[in-house]
Amino acid sequence: MRTAERLTRIPPYLFMELRKKIAQAKADGVDVISLAIGDPVEETPRSVIDELCRTAYDPVNHRYPIDEEKGMLAFRREVARWYADRYGVTLDPATEVLGLIGSKEGCHHFVLARVNPGDTVLMTDPGYPAYRASILMGEGEPYNVPILAKNDYLPDFAAIPTEVAKKATAMFLNYPNNPTGACATRPFLADLVRFARDYDIAVCYDNPYSEILFAGQERISFLQAEGAKEVGVELNSLSKPFNMCGWRIGMACGNADLIAAISKVKENTDSGIFNPIQYAAIVALRREAAYIDRMIEIYTRRRELVLATLRKIGIDFEPPKGTFYLWVPVPGGMTSLEFTNRLFDKTAIVVAAGTAYGKYGEGYIRISLTVPDERLAEAMARIEREFRP
Ligand SMILES: Cc1ncc(COP(=O)(O)O)c(C=O)c1O
Repeated sequence: MRTAERLTRIPPYLFMELRKKIAQAKADGVDVISLAIGDPVEETPRSVIDELCRTAYDPVNHRYPIDEEKGMLAFRREVARWYADRYGVTLDPATEVLGLIGSKEGCHHFVLARVNPGDTVLMTDPGYPAYRASILMGEGEPYNVPILAKNDYLPDFAAIPTEVAKKATAMFLNYPNNPTGACATRPFLADLVRFARDYDIAVCYDNPYSEILFAGQERISFLQAEGAKEVGVELNSLSKPFNMCGWRIGMACGNADLIAAISKVKENTDSGIFNPIQYAAIVALRREAAYIDRMIEIYTRRRELVLATLRKIGIDFEPPKGTFYLWVPVPGGMTSLEFTNRLFDKTAIVVAAGTAYGKYGEGYIRISLTVPDERLAEAMARIEREFRP
């Protein structure tokens, strides 16, 4: 069967390739440890699971969740309260908040809501691979904006050619950043708003790691920047802060025109989020702030273990303070892929090659801290044994 040409432009999804590699080794009886994927292993807070179960028994919730087009008003109100509480951002739940089936879905629907075929869409390189896929499925033209260590992995707006900026209608950014762990600053956000306004670029600020921050790092939302709501939306998600990746719930917040447009796309695509998941998400947002703190403690411990191990094998660097990823420079003049393969062959540890996130990812690998403590300890012991000089 011939399938749509637009799909041929999308590179194979990184994690599918990795999954195949892991599956083959496992089939051969190898004890593989994957540090490649950012999918927390600790369980979702009990109160959230209980609320899902409780509300799932009510037959009212077995019907299409479409009565309220932007997602249940109670959920949107809770999102607005959470943004006010955690970020000092004021949102109108009726017009400036939309429930999503995860922020990844929001990326895709943002493109359909804003981008016309042939439009240039800026995205960071390295960057979350789903941005490129979403842009290509929406028949936009991705333009890679390098984010480099020397600029703290923030885009240099002045380096974007004027003719490119003029043609661009949208931009994807994500801080705390996957894969580099870098965090935005308030002056940077002010520059972003200015740049977007100057060139009429709609910003999709993808912020699912907003809560995953280490000591001393300020919690920042794009919507804190003055004028942000005029130029874009922020996507957020319950996946990472509450270990709810499998639940599929997130939110888009900000510019009311964009929210209405994304909502229109969604109305014609899906029929909303299962109500019990929205009720459960309300409980997470309202009651489980301490859970996030506990997860940060866990990630802090794991991060220190990995950094100490890397130091012992001669990789010494001070990483940025966000996300549960470490963006590690590859030693000894090897390429990202060479090192990833060497590591796998010698230790059966899977990491993500930096180039999976774009060409400026060359020279790096990404290590995820979302594995159980004992597996991470085993992985670090293997690395130390194999690579210690
Ligand atoms: C930058 C970024 N955006 C979005 C997502 C997807 O999040 P969600 O589970 O909310 O769809 C991820 C997941 O890894 C991510 O790293």
